Amino acid sequence: MIADDIKSSFISNYKKKPLLVRAPGRINLIGEHTDYNMGVVLPASIEKAIYFAIQKNEREIINIETFLTAPEKIVFELNGDHKPYQAFWGNYFKAIIEIMIEKGYSLEGFDCVFGGDIPIGAGLSSSAALCCGFILGVSEILGLSISKEENALIAQAAEHKIGLNCGLMDQYAVLFGKKGNALFLDCKDLTLDYVPINLKGYSWALIDSKIKHNLAVDSEYNKRRNSCETVVSVINSSIKPVSSLREVTMEDLEKVQMELSPTDYTRAKYILEENGRVHKMMDALKSGNGNLVGSILLEGHWAMSTQYEITTPELDFLVKIGEGLEGVLGSRMMGGGFGGCTINLLKTDQLESSLEAIKKAYYTETQITCETYPLEIGDGVHLLK
Ligand code: GLA
Repeated sequence: MIADDIKSSFISNYKKKPLLVRAPGRINLIGEHTDYNMGVVLPASIEKAIYFAIQKNEREIINIETFLTAPEKIVFELNGDHKPYQAFWGNYFKAIIEIMIEKGYSLEGFDCVFGGDIPIGAGLSSSAALCCGFILGVSEILGLSISKEENALIAQAAEHKIGLNCGLMDQYAVLFGKKGNALFLDCKDLTLDYVPINLKGYSWALIDSKIKHNLAVDSEYNKRRNSCETVVSVINSSIKPVSSLREVTMEDLEKVQMELSPTDYTRAKYILEENGRVHKMMDALKSGNGNLVGSILLEGHWAMSTQYEITTPELDFLVKIGEGLEGVLGSRMMGGGFGGCTINLLKTDQLESSLEAIKKAYYTETQITCETYPLEIGDGVHLLK
């Protein structure tokens, strides 16, 4: 088990007992790119996770090492000047430490070993797991009493520092997840509710297209956010005071259509409709209506493909294959876009055969072998005994 390996590696390197933290990845049932528009989302934390072994070292340095992708180590001097790190994860921790110092937390030296099994760049929010788990570990060993809400804000600020102007969905999903449930999060006031996602006779599965994204670097993500902000400012100056698309109706949008570029108009329209799909999905899950859940997934996917333009031909193809199969009720790409996994609702009695058929057709079309995972919803970030 990964947690045991992390723990023994920590003990053999640092000769003391660590605190252990488990930080899961997340999926999202529906509500894509709505979080930074103060809309609603329906994510959940999963069984794949990053594990941290961490303890104070009574020195002025922070040692962090991993065998996440390859064995790597960075040393962070508490009062030092730090160049960007080679290891992508080093820059997340550097950002977190800098933000904590800016916020006035008093830091002390510590040692940390981490690793996990969340595929990187697959739309499962490995970076939110990395950040939120690390912040919890640091908070616990240094007695900083950082609340989950504050943890989410520090983790989000780290993403912004690295270059992704993300919302708070991933951090909330990773921190507040609950076994078997999706989290209905209202990003306007950050209130949340839970809804069980198990549907009798149906199973959820993830399919990794193996197309990797890097949202912070390619900034297509940030361009979508800019479009939404442009629409908000146009509505503000010509119709009514609003601070986000959450307060905008379809009627408002139509009134300013001529003042907007077709791209900005279509993106804003997508956001308004996507919020509607989140509410519809809540109702469909509560009533156990698998067919309806499947059709909302499909509607969401094709809206991301044609309106928000964040899918790839490979992801569209994965969804299209499912549409032609009797055992698949619906699928959609998840997360920021441009790669990663689809989430799929399948008939349990045809689960294996459907996944096999998708794999085969995907390979024939793309020469890529996709990976499939059963979806298991676990608890949010926590300490391990
Ligand atoms: C990324 C971001 C989130 C959210 C999703 C899209 O995962 O980190 O804040 O915007 O994309 O729904």
